[in-house]
Amino acid sequence: MNMTVTRKPRKRLSVVLLTDERLVPAGELSDYSEKQRLLRKAEFDVKRAVETLGHQFIAVGLSNDLSTLRGAIDAHKPDIVFNLAEDFGGISHFDQHVVSFLELLRQPYTGCNPRGLTIARDKALTKKILAYDGLKVPEFAIFPMRRTTKRPSTLGFPLFVKSLTEEGSIGISGASVVYDDVKLMERVEYIHRTAGTPALAEQFIEGREIYVGVMGNERVTVLPPWEFFVENRREGAPLIATGRGKWDPSYQDQAGVMTGPAEINEKLATKLEKLSREIYRLLGLSGYARLDFRVTESEDAYLLEANPNPQIAADEDFASSAEHAGIAYPDLIDRIIRYGMIYNSGRVMF
Ligand SMILES: Nc1ncnc2c1ncn2[C@@H]1O[C@H](COP(=O)(O)OP(=O)(O)O)[C@@H](O)[C@H]1O
Ligand SMILES: [Mg+2]
Repeated sequence: MNMTVTRKPRKRLSVVLLTDERLVPAGELSDYSEKQRLLRKAEFDVKRAVETLGHQFIAVGLSNDLSTLRGAIDAHKPDIVFNLAEDFGGISHFDQHVVSFLELLRQPYTGCNPRGLTIARDKALTKKILAYDGLKVPEFAIFPMRRTTKRPSTLGFPLFVKSLTEEGSIGISGASVVYDDVKLMERVEYIHRTAGTPALAEQFIEGREIYVGVMGNERVTVLPPWEFFVENRREGAPLIATGRGKWDPSYQDQAGVMTGPAEINEKLATKLEKLSREIYRLLGLSGYARLDFRVTESEDAYLLEANPNPQIAADEDFASSAEHAGIAYPDLIDRIIRYGMIYNSGRVMF
């Protein structure tokens, strides 16, 4: 008798990868310069994983014209659109509209729903929602464009000044931490000028920087806490995940920037897990997200921001923490696809 156990083969799916038209994976990743490879690695990694899973793969480049996307959906009738689009026509907050368009077409997609994307983009709105349910959030004030605003007297220094809505550590450096009103206004003006968005000044949270990956819809999986370290930090310099620290490999080597499993006690691990589940639900996120926390010496955890649809390349934090939890990369991509396929956009889930 043949004792071999055969797994029932899963249905071969038709997967459309949606990304910026400049990032459509063509040729080999090694054909590109280092900088270009960094921009495209998620696209190439997802492509390889989808092919490993045995699915049919088509990449569609998003430009300023929705008819390309509409045409690709009509032509391929994909089971799922793997959404790696981060903007539309160069406007980053139009990412949510692209997803809304997919929902109107009744097209299943991976990642977060439009409402979750909208809420999480606004770092003040995120905190207001969490505070209403009694969660600890940093105190903050918003400094709108073209309006002179004063710091509320209840908001003390040091403050951390950043864009209300931009991501990828735009405008973030050591100078983001300010200790007086003159420097605060200088930095607010700098954010207005360079990011072109309102500025947010929030209580600077001294402590460890810990990221938590969460995935799923109503039922979620929380990944192991992942810590951001800067080994060669100058004595007394604040710990900050700057743009260079996130994206510049030679700076990362020089400064000893690393991420890895956070060594924390059981109690804190349980607290972060519970908190992450709650935040994901309160913000109405779906698909997959990375929550950025600061954890103080007294083990108070503050959410800095939620990142729905975080960087999903195999060597980035989300996939690394999944791998650490025993979820190999193709399985992670498989799960993300399944979450997208079961998400019912026509139903109110919150
Ligand atoms: N309130 C704060 N206290 C301490 N550090 C902060 C604070 N806000 C931001 N930072 C630092 O700046 C980095 C980037 O800020 P974040 O809000 O996560 O924006 P981005 O969307 O650019 O990642 C954080 O990872 C953290 O190192
Ligand atoms: Mg962040």
